[in-house]
Amino acid sequence: MRVMITGGLGFIGSHLVRWILQHEPEVDIINVDALTYAGNPANLRDLEEDPRYQWHRVSITDEAAIDQLLSSYPVDAIMHLAAESHVDRSIQSGMPFVQTNVMGTQVLLEAARRHRVGRFIQVSTDEVYGSLGPTGYFSEDSPLAPNSPYSASKAGADWLALAAFHTYGQEVMVTRCSNNYGPYQFPEKLIPLFVTNGLEGKPWPLYGDGLNIRDWLHVVDHVRALWMVLQSGQPGQVYNIGGHNEHTNRQIAQTLAELMQLPSSIIVPVPDRLGHDRRYAIDAQKIRRELGWEPEISWMQGLSGTVAWYHAHSDWWQPIKSGAYLEYYRTQYGDL
Ligand code: NAD
Ligand code: DAU
Repeated sequence: MRVMITGGLGFIGSHLVRWILQHEPEVDIINVDALTYAGNPANLRDLEEDPRYQWHRVSITDEAAIDQLLSSYPVDAIMHLAAESHVDRSIQSGMPFVQTNVMGTQVLLEAARRHRVGRFIQVSTDEVYGSLGPTGYFSEDSPLAPNSPYSASKAGADWLALAAFHTYGQEVMVTRCSNNYGPYQFPEKLIPLFVTNGLEGKPWPLYGDGLNIRDWLHVVDHVRALWMVLQSGQPGQVYNIGGHNEHTNRQIAQTLAELMQLPSSIIVPVPDRLGHDRRYAIDAQKIRRELGWEPEISWMQGLSGTVAWYHAHSDWWQPIKSGAYLEYYRTQYGDL
């Protein structure tokens, strides 16, 4: 079986590539990643020589290049993760989000139809459901109510994916996961930003009152769920994925300060994110009931392992934070 993974040099995509190569010996992977600022070949450096793996530096918005790839390498399935993924960046400028997340998804769906690709997973996010009050959960039937340019672009892509199922019978499934954490997450996101700032002796900017809530899941639990959906999910269906693991941002900062033996004075309140969603919480009963998925990595085990990983891998994150990695990749691979 051959699977195309988009965004395989990013945080979740690189874990997915690694997990499949380790657990599914009959599967070959074509990784389509444009290498934006968030992509990093170092995430999969040890797998570059693996004959079951190849990376093509192609944008999912480039219809001709995607067509050519699918002609040269017919695939049985596409697992689509490539995206502009950071909410704060979308607040600065929404256009790259529309181009990659909306238009890129439509390019892939149409190419999948032309090339008769069997299954297609649209990897989406709980943010498409909007923001919750203090109680309740997002189920697959919750109405879409995205609030940021990022989440609005993901919601648009989800509708396009489901339309491909309804209109053409393409075997499309949509997954909507809560916040991921773990190794190789780009240090613009909350947990890796705070951990690496802590290691550098820099403050932790906590937005607003710090009481916004997210539902956290270890990235390896997410990629296991994606593989189960690819194997056994029903076309046209949406699957929520979440760890039932809610924390305020302030609680996370305090837990990290304890784990890293740092004073709580490292936490510095800063102005709030514009349009900041208050609470996300996923009802994941459907994937548990229908596909037998359960999270396996506990919060404290996962979080302390993540802190230890960043502690041991300053060679990975320091060039990212200094900007040196962008210079290096420009010389290796051309302009980003
Ligand atoms: P990321 O930003 O770490 O990685 C995105 C990857 O996509 C990068 O390697 C980048 O180079 C690539 N990419 C961007 N634009 C591209 C384009 N036009 N063509 C080809 N490649 C392109 O993102 P992530 O956190 O790993 O998220 C992956 C997916 O999972 C996204 O679709 C995101 O919406 C979704 N998701 C993320 C989370 C989370 O907590 N991180 C939670 C739920 C869902
Ligand atoms: O819910 C899934 C989503 O989780 C994914 O779809 C997104 O791709 C991913 O980026 C993530 O979005 P969030 O906006 O929730 O993640 P982020 O790490 O940016 O922020 C988490 C919370 O921490 C949020 O309430 C904002 C807050 N925050 C974030 C940063 C970067 C701070 O207080 N300070 C910060 O410096």
